[in-house]
Amino acid sequence: MAEEVEASGRDVRPRLSLTTASPVPIDSVAGGEEPRQRTGISEFDRVLGGGFVAGSVVLVAGDPGVGKSTLLLQAAGRLAAGGATVLYVSGEESPGQISLRARRLGVMEKDLLLLAETNVEAILGHLEATRPALCVIDSIQTCYTSTLTSAPGSVGQVREVAAQLITAAKRLAVPLALVGHVTKDGAVAGPRVLEHMVDVVLAFEGEGASPYRILRGAKNRFGSTHEIGVFEMGGEGLREVLNPSATFLAQRPVDQPGSVVVVTMEGTRPILLEVQALVSPSSMALPRRMATGLDPNRLALLAAILEKRAGFALHDQDIYLNVAGGVRIEEPASDLGVACAIISSFRSRPVPFEAVCLGEVGLTGEVRTVPQVEARCKEAASLGFKQAIIPPRTGSDKPGLALKAVEVATLEDAFAVLFEKG
Ligand code: TYD
Ligand code: MG
Repeated sequence: MAEEVEASGRDVRPRLSLTTASPVPIDSVAGGEEPRQRTGISEFDRVLGGGFVAGSVVLVAGDPGVGKSTLLLQAAGRLAAGGATVLYVSGEESPGQISLRARRLGVMEKDLLLLAETNVEAILGHLEATRPALCVIDSIQTCYTSTLTSAPGSVGQVREVAAQLITAAKRLAVPLALVGHVTKDGAVAGPRVLEHMVDVVLAFEGEGASPYRILRGAKNRFGSTHEIGVFEMGGEGLREVLNPSATFLAQRPVDQPGSVVVVTMEGTRPILLEVQALVSPSSMALPRRMATGLDPNRLALLAAILEKRAGFALHDQDIYLNVAGGVRIEEPASDLGVACAIISSFRSRPVPFEAVCLGEVGLTGEVRTVPQVEARCKEAASLGFKQAIIPPRTGSDKPGLALKAVEVATLEDAFAVLFEKG
């Protein structure tokens, strides 16, 4: 339960609507490409859809410590280096702390203005006075409005503060980046309250101790939500990972059972990832199915298909699955790779080092087609892969593939190609 105190004597209804207009025909409305403020960090710009749109509000959500402040400080520094004024409002750290970090990140720019303020009315005053090219609010949970008596970070405060900031951003045509902490239970005053109010929601994710960070679009009124940006956290802040496939595969073991390379599409970009499985006899009545970087339900489903349709006795085996590099696989196109990794470990037979697997697996054990086979194969070939296990291609138009492809219709076919030879 979150207390909401109603402010008296004034209109507390959300002030998100901009005008009280009358209906107009759609073709009479002016509109075109929005001018974009590029940050110069290409992985960030790509996820934004090309940069910050004037007056748009971008929520960057993530666990505490994942690197939200670092990312936005670096982006702010880049913009300021290009001569744009950026207002960085922090309620979490003092200007001294931020400046210390900025020095380490190499973003000491005179056009980067720091403001340690948590009162939204005061922030709005400074926003109006400076009219920056970008304003960062770090974080929305620390800001409060004096019109409400509840504590900063409560649902009422977060919503009211955001509404005021959003209205100002639209009126002044200043892009706004809001930092929002995700609490573990995802609930109280988390970014969820804001998702419908802002234009863009970006999730900044990292898995465990991995230095890699993924910036993922969850909502974008000005672009696609499928793009991801990949970063690596190091001593000098976040570094862009421009060739994620090569990076993620760099530490791949040679000829070890349980390691399979899959190709997932992240927006327009194919990314190669190593899936690792470990299958070992279970001492429990209910064997474990544990997955990092993959939906555990998907793993359980694939294990059931392997048991029932392909005849592997996995019911008394623990299965652990890991996607190397801390990336999360969302696409069913990796099913075949996951299944092959499980069987590779179960039978202690490595899959060929220079092979990749693509394909969705259906409930009858059939291998189903996936989109953009050509683009995926091209990326695999460019990284030196020689063979691809792919779903059957239908239709008369079968463009040539960049590497040797073997079409498989079922899981058994795939296993025959990968394990039975030699
Ligand atoms: P931070 O941006 O403060 O996270 P958030 O704002 O999301 O809470 O980053 C926190 C972590 O990043 C911190 O634990 C240390 C690490 N870090 C580095 O490893 N290198 C760096 O250069 C910086 C600035 C931070
Ligand atoms: Mg922070």
